[in-house]
Amino acid sequence: FFMFYDQILEAVTYIQSKINRKPSYAIVLGSGLDAFVDNLLDKEVISYSSIPYFPSSNVKGHKDQLVFGKIKDKEIVCMQGRFHYYEGFTMSQVTFPIYVLHQLGVKNLIVTNACGGINESFHPGDLMIIEDYINFLGVNPLIGENDERLGPRFPDMSEPYNLKWIQFAKDCAGQCQIPYKTGVYALFNGPCFETAAEIRAFKVLGADAVGMSTVPETIVANYLKMRVLGISCITNMATGISQTKHSHEEVLKVANRVSDD
Ligand code: HPA
Repeated sequence: FFMFYDQILEAVTYIQSKINRKPSYAIVLGSGLDAFVDNLLDKEVISYSSIPYFPSSNVKGHKDQLVFGKIKDKEIVCMQGRFHYYEGFTMSQVTFPIYVLHQLGVKNLIVTNACGGINESFHPGDLMIIEDYINFLGVNPLIGENDERLGPRFPDMSEPYNLKWIQFAKDCAGQCQIPYKTGVYALFNGPCFETAAEIRAFKVLGADAVGMSTVPETIVANYLKMRVLGISCITNMATGISQTKHSHEEVLKVANRVSDD
């Protein structure tokens, strides 16, 4: 794990040699939400493949680059493309960018994703502010020897998504007249979509939405004492609730449609 810490520092040193920015906010853009970077001014881009130890993903709909820029007076860095466990990456690789962003000075992390709706009051195209998660992955990114320089062995997870920030997001949505839902995000491994029986089971367990990402980054960000806000785009109703079959194309189409909101 001492090597892991050195890898983080090496990646940060490389980024800082290319880009002289001090972002305090980072946004992980989920499938179909890449267009958010059009809102940034003074953009500077760095591709994942050039950064030491950064994995590189090839899921359709992801560009695989860090985009630095400003919105009003805020310095922001966006991840266009994230890493998933189902791609075969280790959990350390999936969450490596979060460690790097933290080391770059980012204190506030917004995670977004496309996901399936379990709660029957949801509709495709809805945005859901994530209140809590259920990690059904069976693994955890913090498994392994703990490096106390990064965080504690047993991180508290009673507030994975910052309550004040959730309230702020609700207030902003209200002011902008953007409808939203709130709920619990359940993480499945993927890459196959869930069965109808799995969705029925998770409904009983209290899940409102289901997806294949976001939770590993949330865990590591909390471990690193970052403040986290999570926003899901319900791109389809989950298996068995929806009468139609799922496709990644549909996911991208719906996410693209609401990415402005
Ligand atoms: N299940 C899991 N992940 C997803 C879904 C879904 O229905 N839709 C978009 N991502």
